[in-house]
Amino acid sequence: MYKSTFFRSSTPIPHHRLSSSPFDMKTSALFTLFASLALTSFTTVIAQDSNVTETIVANAEADSIDLTILSFYNSALTEIETVYEEADISTVETTKRSVGRFIRRQTPTPNDIVDVHTHVVPSWYKLLVPTTGGNPTPDWTLAGHLSFMEQQGIARAILAFSAPGANVYQGNKPLTVSLARLINEQSAAYCRANPTKLDFYAVVPLPYTTEAIREARYAVNVLGAVGIVLTSNYEGTYLGNVAFKPFFEAVNSFGGRQIFYIHPSAPYVKVNNKLVEANPTPYPTGNIEFFFETSRTLMDLTLTQTIHNFTNIHYVIPHVGGAFPATIDRILKSTPAIYDSSLNIYSTRFWWDSAGPTYFHQVAGLLGFGIPKSQLLYGTDYPYAPAFTQAGSLNAVKNSALFTAVEKTAIFRSNAVTLFGNKIKW
Ligand SMILES: *[C@@H]1O[C@H](CO)[C@@H](O)[C@H](O)[C@H]1NC(C)=O
Ligand SMILES: *[C@@H]1O[C@H](CO)[C@@H](O)[C@H](O)[C@H]1NC(C)=O
Repeated sequence: MYKSTFFRSSTPIPHHRLSSSPFDMKTSALFTLFASLALTSFTTVIAQDSNVTETIVANAEADSIDLTILSFYNSALTEIETVYEEADISTVETTKRSVGRFIRRQTPTPNDIVDVHTHVVPSWYKLLVPTTGGNPTPDWTLAGHLSFMEQQGIARAILAFSAPGANVYQGNKPLTVSLARLINEQSAAYCRANPTKLDFYAVVPLPYTTEAIREARYAVNVLGAVGIVLTSNYEGTYLGNVAFKPFFEAVNSFGGRQIFYIHPSAPYVKVNNKLVEANPTPYPTGNIEFFFETSRTLMDLTLTQTIHNFTNIHYVIPHVGGAFPATIDRILKSTPAIYDSSLNIYSTRFWWDSAGPTYFHQVAGLLGFGIPKSQLLYGTDYPYAPAFTQAGSLNAVKNSALFTAVEKTAIFRSNAVTLFGNKIKW
C-alpha cells in the first residue's frame, strides 16, 4: 500500500504557496493567520498511515463533500492512487540507479519552455466527457505528456482540465461540487508526482458560489494550485454576472496575487428554462465558438468592471485573446469612461497565451492595442490541439518577424516566471 505523505492536518503549507506576493507583507501575514485558522478548524484527524484514498475522502468529508455520489468514484480514486504509487517507485529507482542523471534531467535551464496552456485527460474523465467542443476528447496519458514535454523542450507545464471542467451535470449542485474536488485531487496527484515539472490550475464548482469559494481555498491552500481555471460561462451565465461577484470578491481577498485562467467553453442559451448548446453553424463549437466565448466573457468582465475592482486578480487569456482583440474598440468606444483604464488592465494584469496556431497572423491584432510583449506567454493546448499542428504553431512563434530573439525567449519562459513568481519553485 502506498503511504500518503500529504496530510491536510499535519503537513505544513509550503512557504512559497503562502506568500504568493512578495510585495505585500501585511496581506501575506493576514493570509498566513487565516490559513492557520482554516487548518485548525479542520477536526477530522487523519492518521499518518492513511492511504491516498482515505485521505482524499476524509478531506472531502471535512468540507461536506460526498465523493461516493459519483458512480465512477472508485475507478477515479484508483487512478489517482496509481499516480502516487508510480511516482514513488520511479523516484526511488531513479535515485538509486543514477542520481546525477536524474538531477540533470530535472533541473530546468533558463531557456527551457514554460507551457501555461495544456490539459490532462485521465481515463475516467474521458469516459465521462467523450466529446469536447464538438470534437472527440483526445486520448492522454501522463507518460505521454511528459515525453511530449521532453520532445518540445518544455521544462514546466501548468496543467488544467479543459472545458467543461466540473460542469458535467448541469443543474445538479452535489454532483458538480464532488466532481470539482475529484478533478482537483487528480491534478494535484500529477503535480506531486512530478514536482519539478508540473503545476496546475484548479477548477471550481461555479455557478455555486459558496462551494466555489471553499474549493478555491482548499485547492490553493492545501493542494498547492498556482491558479484557478474558469470557463467562459457557467450554465449560460458569463463571468461578470452579479451572481459571481462574491466569488471574485472572496478570491481577491485571499491575499497576494491570484491567477484566473479563463478557458472558453460551449455557449448556451435558455429555451423554455432549459439550457441548449448554442451553435448556429455546422462546425464544432471548439473550432469557432470558443473564440467568441472568450470575447463574450471578457466583454462582460470589462463592462461590469469586475476586472477593475478586484485588483489582486491577474488573468491568463488563451489563444492571444481569441476573437476579443477584434472587438475591443467596438466595446470600449461606446463606454469611453472606462476605455483607458480597461486598456491599462489588459496591458498589466492580463497575460495572453499563444495556444494553437495563433502566431501566424492573429497575434498582430492584439499587439495593435499596444499590449506589451512582456504580457505574452507560451501554450500548446496539448493534447486537444492535434499533434500534427504542434510544430507549426511552435515555429510560428520562433519565426515571427514581430519579435526580437530576446522577446521570444521571454515569451517561452521569463514572462511566465514574472507572472507566477514564487508560486512555483523555478
Ligand atoms: C485504501 O483504503 C481504501 C478504503 O479503506 C481501500 O479500499 C483501498 O484498498 C486502500 N488502498 C490500498 C492501496 O491499500
Ligand atoms: C466596480 O466599481 C464600480 C464603482 O467604482 C461600480 O459601479 C461597479 O458596479 C463595480 N463592479 C463590480 C463587479 O464590483
